[in-house]
Amino acid sequence: EMRDTPRPEVPLSSPSLDLTVRPRRNRKSEWARRLIRENVLTTNDLIWPVFVIDGENQRAPVASMPGVERLSVDQVVRAAERAVKLEIPCIALFPFTDPSLRDENGTEATNSDNLVCRSVRALKKEFPELGVLCDVALDPFTSHGHDGLLSEGKILNDETVEVLVKQSLVQAEAGCDIIAPSDMMDGRIGAIRDGLDAAGFVDVQIMAYAAKYASAFYGPFRDAIGSAKALTGDKRTYQMDPANSDEALREVELDLAEGADMVMVKPGMPYLDILRRVKDTFAVPTFAYQVSGEYAMIAAAAANGWIDGERAMLESLLAFKRAGADGVLTYFAPQVAEKLKKG
Ligand code: PBG
Repeated sequence: EMRDTPRPEVPLSSPSLDLTVRPRRNRKSEWARRLIRENVLTTNDLIWPVFVIDGENQRAPVASMPGVERLSVDQVVRAAERAVKLEIPCIALFPFTDPSLRDENGTEATNSDNLVCRSVRALKKEFPELGVLCDVALDPFTSHGHDGLLSEGKILNDETVEVLVKQSLVQAEAGCDIIAPSDMMDGRIGAIRDGLDAAGFVDVQIMAYAAKYASAFYGPFRDAIGSAKALTGDKRTYQMDPANSDEALREVELDLAEGADMVMVKPGMPYLDILRRVKDTFAVPTFAYQVSGEYAMIAAAAANGWIDGERAMLESLLAFKRAGADGVLTYFAPQVAEKLKKG
């Protein structure tokens, strides 16, 4: 921290510039900066994404995400305990599905006893007061690594939506609080809302990955869930073109009309402009996903001593707040919550 400037009654020199307005006056000391601060990051803003693996007492590091581990269900429960202690409101689950359970159609996604459903039940039993978010998409379960059903090189839309509704239902039955479709199929929010309501899950929220871009920043995530090697081709026929901004507003508008309770922009840091436009246009609960590649960049540079990792983490998360986010999905969640708690 810089030392505060000397008291005004001891003038250093007579000012040579004739300035009426001096913006630096409001930055002269820590208390003055605190007084005019426009945005604050709190633990209430955090959703913690967690990778789940099979087995017991397992913690397997993700090589491309230093500090992040895949956890077996019992360890996910320990993570939840940490989240509750740190007052992180919500945890998000992403499964590493055993390759033997992956197939063309992602059948395991709708198995009510799959890794995600077992995790949700374990979490809800131990920590019912902690929010649980489940991703909806087929990529952790398909042998080809795509988010939907693949036929003759094409991702089928309506047929995929039918499966996504079933996936949402098994997750809701397990006790999931927030269904978060990340697949980018057309019409899935409306279909999932109808499916949830018909089954009596009127209070299960939907957070739509509304503006999700076909991004290079998902690489480490695909390593973590084991879909990187499997993936044939890319996801550009369903995820958005990074060149587009107006299109994000149309996607958000549709998802809200179909019943989304909250919307998300993804990735985060390279898309702060989208976040700001979405928040200004719709004034609904809006989230950003600081994705795996963003985490990896900060963690790797910090590990090399090239940046101050802790400061970069806090600054990147505050930037989401400044850009209009109500909350952020971030792999830094436990670290930042610990830091905020210490003050
Ligand atoms: C699955 C999904 C992805 C992410 C969240 N849900 C990957 C993808 O779309 O390929 C990425 C998250 C991250 O990179 O941290 N549909």
